[in-house]
Amino acid sequence: MTQDELKKAVGWAALEYVKPGTVVGVGTGSTASHFIDALGTMKDKIEGAVSSSEASTEKLKSLGIPVFDCNEVDSLDIYVDGADEINAQMQMIKGGGAALTREKIIAAVAKKFICIIDASKQVDVLGKFPLPVEVIPMARSYVARELVKLGGTPVYRQNVITDNGNVILDVHNLAILNPIELENKINAIAGVVTVGLFANRGANVVLVGTSDGVKTITE
Ligand code: 5RP
Repeated sequence: MTQDELKKAVGWAALEYVKPGTVVGVGTGSTASHFIDALGTMKDKIEGAVSSSEASTEKLKSLGIPVFDCNEVDSLDIYVDGADEINAQMQMIKGGGAALTREKIIAAVAKKFICIIDASKQVDVLGKFPLPVEVIPMARSYVARELVKLGGTPVYRQNVITDNGNVILDVHNLAILNPIELENKINAIAGVVTVGLFANRGANVVLVGTSDGVKTITE
C-alpha cells in the first residue's frame, strides 16, 4: 500500500468515533483531508465541525458540512487529526502544515484526541522531524536565539504566514527526551505563540495505518 492509501484507511476508520448529533473537531493535512472526505458521508447526521485551518474549513464547506467558530461550542466530543511524529506515550510533534496553534486550541477543547497516522510517523524519541514553533513576526530573531540556547537549530520557514498572521521557525537537531519540559520551556519564551509539541495534551486514541490493516492504540 502507498503512504496515501494508509492515510486514507485511517481517515475513514476514524468515522467510527463520530457520534451522530455532535460537532466534530477537524484537523489539517493530507490525513485529516481523508477524514473530511469520510465525514462528508455523515454530513446529515452531525451538527457540524470546528476546523483547525482555512484549508480544512474550505474543504468542509465544499462538502456541505457546517463549520462553527470555536467560540460557539462549549465542548467537543472528539478532535481528529494527523501528526508529524508520535511516541509510545502518545505525545506528538505537529505543525508540518503550519496549523499548530488552532490545532492545539481545538485539541484542548475536545474530550478525546483521535490521532490518525501511517506507521512511518511512529518514533521512539521525538525530534527527527523539525519542531515547528509559531512566532509573532517581530520576535523571530529573539526567539531563534533562545531556541539555540535550548540546543536546537531554528530555521525560518520561508514564504509561510500562518492563518493567524505569524511566522514559523522549524527547530532541527533536537532529541526530545522530556517533551513536557521542552513544551513548557518553549511556550514560556516571549513572542512564541505555540510550539508544535503536543505533550501536556497528547492523543487519547491512535489509529495507525499499516500494510496489515488499521491498528488501534488506546491509553
Ligand atoms: C498540520 C499538522 C498535520 O497533522 C501534520 O503535518 C501531518 O500531516 P499529514 O497528515 O499531511 O502527514 O500538524 O499542521
